[in-house]
Amino acid sequence: MKNTVVTIQEAKKRGEKITMLTAYDYSMAKLIDESGINMILVGDSLGMVMLGYEDTLSVTMEDMIHHTKAVTRGAKNALIVADMPFMSYQASVYDAVCNAGRLMKEGRAQAVKLEGGKEVFPQIEAITKASIPVVAHLGLTPQSLNVFGGFKVQGKSEEAAKKLIEDAKGAEAAGAVAVVLECVPAKLAELISKQINIPTIGIGAGAGCDGQVLVYQDMLAMFGDFKPKFVKQFGQIGEQMKAAFSQYIKEVQNGVFPAEQHTYGISDEMLEKLY
Ligand code: KIV
Ligand code: NA
Repeated sequence: MKNTVVTIQEAKKRGEKITMLTAYDYSMAKLIDESGINMILVGDSLGMVMLGYEDTLSVTMEDMIHHTKAVTRGAKNALIVADMPFMSYQASVYDAVCNAGRLMKEGRAQAVKLEGGKEVFPQIEAITKASIPVVAHLGLTPQSLNVFGGFKVQGKSEEAAKKLIEDAKGAEAAGAVAVVLECVPAKLAELISKQINIPTIGIGAGAGCDGQVLVYQDMLAMFGDFKPKFVKQFGQIGEQMKAAFSQYIKEVQNGVFPAEQHTYGISDEMLEKLY
């Protein structure tokens, strides 16, 4: 069944959990889609896990479009959300609408996601008016790393918690179709999930959210650089990959691979003529 912004609203109403994972290319999008996921996020986390940057700030619109195109070709049933990269929406509403439009038109995404609350309500409203569904992203918003002074849990103080609640309500009022809550205390995320009608998708925000999202390299243990507390490793794929790569290297070096069954033949007659 094709997941849409409508089916995820219905899932929340029915109390069914919504599942989301990141993907950045065709083959991984296809595998994840075929597993029955509801949503795929082409996250700007690709700057870190695919491109090797230390944070997400260097990711460009071109990077996002390139990877979104690959994912949308690979996924049939998942609702595909593309991240708006740093400085593609902050400076003006005009920028925001044009760049959201490029992710839809060139990348063929089905929704866009942007970071921030009150500061970006005008952007959420304008993009929504252009018939582009918007997912808001609150709590730890990695594009604001330099303001936070590091990757830290958000919404701990009363003031910050109140702002988070107001931001979630305001994002809904501005037209957002869902809200990602990243690194928010579980009880606060649960409260927010009860106070808004659109689904909350948590990452490091506890089981009270309407759905969950993880970066696939994190949940498959493919990305050794660091492991946040909220990550559960559902497979040790990095280790399995390294074992397979070493085996290949060994078999090539000692002549075990390629074997007879991996090769193409020609007739002996033909071969004789070539001598
Ligand atoms: O870029 C990303 O992968 C994200 C998720 C962690 C929510 O924004
Ligand atoms: Na992101």
